[in-house]
Order: sequence, then C-alpha cells, then structure tokens
Amino acid sequence: MTNAQKWVAVFLGLFVVLFIIGKATKEEESFGDSDYYGSTEGAAEVSGLELIESVGCIRCHGIDLQGTALAPGLYEAKNHWSRKDLINYLRNPSAYDGDERFDKYRDKYSGSIMPSYGNRDVKELGKIADYLLSLDK
Ligand code: HEC
Repeated sequence: MTNAQKWVAVFLGLFVVLFIIGKATKEEESFGDSDYYGSTEGAAEVSGLELIESVGCIRCHGIDLQGTALAPGLYEAKNHWSRKDLINYLRNPSAYDGDERFDKYRDKYSGSIMPSYGNRDVKELGKIADYLLSLDK
C-alpha cells in the first residue's frame, strides 16, 4: 500500500466509525415524550416475562408470580391498574401509599418493601406492565 492509500483507508475507517456513532445517538434521541407510555417498539427484544425474571420481581412475588411470604401475587394486577398507572407505580410505588389495599400489604408483608424501578427504561416497564395485565388464572 502506498502512503496515499493508507490515508484513504484511515479516512474511510473514521467515516464508518462516525456513521455508527451518529446512528447510535440518533436512536436515543428518537425516544421522545410522546411515546413515553406508548408502544414498546425499539426496546431490546426481551419479553415482559424475561424482564420480570431478570429484574428480580420473582424473588419476592414468586417464580409463578402467585405471591410469597414477601409479596402479594400479581394475578390481580389487571383488576387494580391501568397500564399507565401500573408503570407509574413501578417507577415510584410510594406515590400510591394510603390506599387501603396497601395498608393491608404493609401489615402482611412488613418484612419487605416493593422497590422503585424509576431507574429502568420506561419501555421495559411497559413490557412488564403489559405482561402483568395479561396474566389470567
Ligand atoms: C423486595 C421484594 C420485592 C421485589 C423485588 C418486587 N416487589 Fe413488587 N411488591 C413487593 C411488596 C412487599 C408489595 C406490596 C406493596 C407494598 O408493601 O408496598 C409489592 C407490590 C407490587 C405490586 C402491587 C400489587 C397490587 O395488588 O396492586 C405490583 C404490581 C408489583 N409489586 C410488581 C412488581 C414488579 C413488576 C417487580 C419487578 C420489576 C416487583 N414487584 C419487585 C415486594 C417486591
């Protein structure tokens, strides 16, 4: 390779790298507020159930999500929550204190606290919510 050819190769390489970086950042930007609670399009291809397992919900709610001594079962979720409220709850459970149901939980599961998942990608929480709301006995 001549020197000139090497330079061309270097510039081509740089161009490719910049192109990839550009694409990556663009994808992040496109996550606007408009689809905050909306579609789960674009989230990594993991199912709601896989997330529930990997995030660790089953640790307290049970491997079958039927409840344990640490936390209630989640099969009733669809009777209590809209998708949006459920996502908000997962992000900040303490905002829903005061409800009679939660007073009972507080007594029954006094040894554990529902963690807040405000640091998770809201699209992941959307998938989790979709899965929970689809649960049927
Ligand atoms: C450390 C134990 C623990 C973990 C981990 C946990 N939870 Fe909970 N969860 C609780 C407890 C305890 C409650 C009962 C409410 C309370 O005490 O605040 C609860 C309540 C809930 C409720 C409300 C139930 C109802 O009747 O409305 C939902 C929904 C829920 N959890 C979903 C999840 C999801 C989804 C995950 C994983 C992303 C998760 N939880 C992880 C302990 C846990």
